[in-house]
Amino acid sequence: MLLTIVRCFVFVLLRFVSYFVLLALLLFDISLVEVKSQFCDGISQYGRCSPNSACACYHIAGAINIGICVDVFVDCSALVACVDSDNTCYETNHRCVHHPQCHSSPVCYPVPSFNQRLCPPIPKYLDIVLLCILVHPLRGNAIDIHSNAQWQENGLTEAGGNRRGNATNQLNNPGGVYVDDDQTVYVADASNHRIMEWKMGAMSSQVVAGGNGDGNGTHQLYGPLDVIVDSETDSLIISDHYNKRVVRWSRRNGTHGETIISNISCWGLTMDENGSLYVAEFSKHEVRRYRRGESQGTVVAGGNGSGNRLDQLYYPRYVFVDRNNSVYVSDWGNYRVMKWLEGAKEVIVVAGGNGQGNALTQLHYPLGVVADQLGTVYVAEQLNNRVVRWPKGATEGSIIIGGNGIGDKSNQLDWPVGLSFDGHGNFYVVDNGNSRVQKFNIASNQ
Ligand SMILES: *[C@@H]1O[C@H](CO)[C@@H](O)[C@H](O)[C@H]1NC(C)=O
Ligand SMILES: *[C@@H]1O[C@H](CO)[C@@H](O)[C@H](O)[C@H]1NC(C)=O
Ligand SMILES: *[C@@H]1O[C@H](CO)[C@@H](O)[C@H](O)[C@H]1NC(C)=O
Ligand SMILES: *[C@@H]1O[C@H](CO)[C@@H](O)[C@H](O)[C@H]1NC(C)=O
Ligand SMILES: *[C@@H]1O[C@H](CO)[C@@H](O)[C@H](O)[C@H]1NC(C)=O
Ligand SMILES: *[C@@H]1O[C@H](CO)[C@@H](O)[C@H](O)[C@H]1NC(C)=O
Ligand SMILES: *[C@@H]1O[C@H](CO)[C@@H](O)[C@H](O)[C@H]1NC(C)=O
Repeated sequence: MLLTIVRCFVFVLLRFVSYFVLLALLLFDISLVEVKSQFCDGISQYGRCSPNSACACYHIAGAINIGICVDVFVDCSALVACVDSDNTCYETNHRCVHHPQCHSSPVCYPVPSFNQRLCPPIPKYLDIVLLCILVHPLRGNAIDIHSNAQWQENGLTEAGGNRRGNATNQLNNPGGVYVDDDQTVYVADASNHRIMEWKMGAMSSQVVAGGNGDGNGTHQLYGPLDVIVDSETDSLIISDHYNKRVVRWSRRNGTHGETIISNISCWGLTMDENGSLYVAEFSKHEVRRYRRGESQGTVVAGGNGSGNRLDQLYYPRYVFVDRNNSVYVSDWGNYRVMKWLEGAKEVIVVAGGNGQGNALTQLHYPLGVVADQLGTVYVAEQLNNRVVRWPKGATEGSIIIGGNGIGDKSNQLDWPVGLSFDGHGNFYVVDNGNSRVQKFNIASNQ
């Protein structure tokens, strides 16, 4: 399981980072997949079996096509014949192998205990690529989610959960959440004017952007509402709401941000596989797409004032882009989720749109939104304190998380906001009223 994640991580990086980093990661991966034995399987006698060219495959006497990978610099005269009857060796750390260049009959060949370091196996590059065909969307799933998948009823607190506050183990009015491929959690901690980073298993977190009070300085944020990671530039992209700007903070040198879009009432944001940025522009009731380097962008949904026509939005909040580059937006004030198919003129309603209320046909102020590979939409509902699932074409949803009344128990939510899958299909939900981020593990996927 662990290997699969790392490999997929490698693949995602393959697309976005320099080959030097990739090479480093491949080496990292190799150390994880290193075989425990010294056998070379299916390699010819004297065939290459290690990145170290001083090593070769010596077939084991009595075995078919299986050898041992050892260094070749052993003098023929130092080798003794194996015990004839059963191909064994009396000396410790010796194996009985074929070595026709020295002797016609099998010989006892030294295999030192450090042989694995001397002759590391050749990594399975093909494996790495084949296992990593899936590039999952930002906040999306890497595994296929079954249409009947279920999640644990009780959430685990991943971040915060220590009442409202400004300590590093606290949150104050958290908004959007982003989960990295190594399960590092980033939270937009709006009223603390900072972005927090929670590494997997850590007891507390660290400030990775802002945290210098509210203000419009380059070292400050003012009510950040969403955050994503741009792996190509190894930076965080932040919706700096009250400063009406989208800023980029380096993940390596996070002391200042750089404004990449200004004069925008930004709320949620996301990025597609090409690095185009999508921003929900709250007060203009539209979603804009900015290709890399663009500062103006183009409208992809809404943009015709507030209203409930199909070409309108009413205070859009969060956005998601799936593998087909379809854009989903939580149309907060219209109690619905809209989907824009690339190239289409209009958007369609994929969840809600039946007014406010707690019926399964309704959404009561939708916020965080994600979709899976089947086009099933998952929505966090601010006032219904639940996360619902709407399959493609469905006329009503079903509750998958919460829906147990407002509260702070592990099966309850109080004003859910940001929503994200991790690569394994587990859900992260920002539980704003409880100042925490809850993780709901996938319980069954069939
Ligand atoms: C954190 O909160 C305390 C108490 O409310 C306040 O005195 C302090 O200035 C705050 N620190 C920051 C960095 O905002
Ligand atoms: C930042 O805030 C200060 C004080 O409120 C204001 O004078 C200044 O114009 C602002 N700068 C920008 C770039 O908005
Ligand atoms: C970090 O960023 C600041 C502001 O952009 C810059 O002045 C500084 O030189 C950077 N430091 C490093 C080590 O890159
Ligand atoms: C910001 O946007 C508003 C509304 O689109 C516009 O009226 C205003 O001129 C813009 N301000 C700047 C400084 O570009
Ligand atoms: C992504 O880039 C490819 C290749 O340049 C292009 O064909 C595709 O339309 C782009 N997708 C989006 C959503 O921009
Ligand atoms: C809606 O907005 C889009 C994008 O700004 C525009 O192309 C279209 O003409 C508008 N439709 C109406 C009816 O105003
Ligand atoms: C993407 O497009 C393919 C082909 O049209 C379709 O089969 C698939 O269901 C779509 N995926 C989503 C998430 O809608």
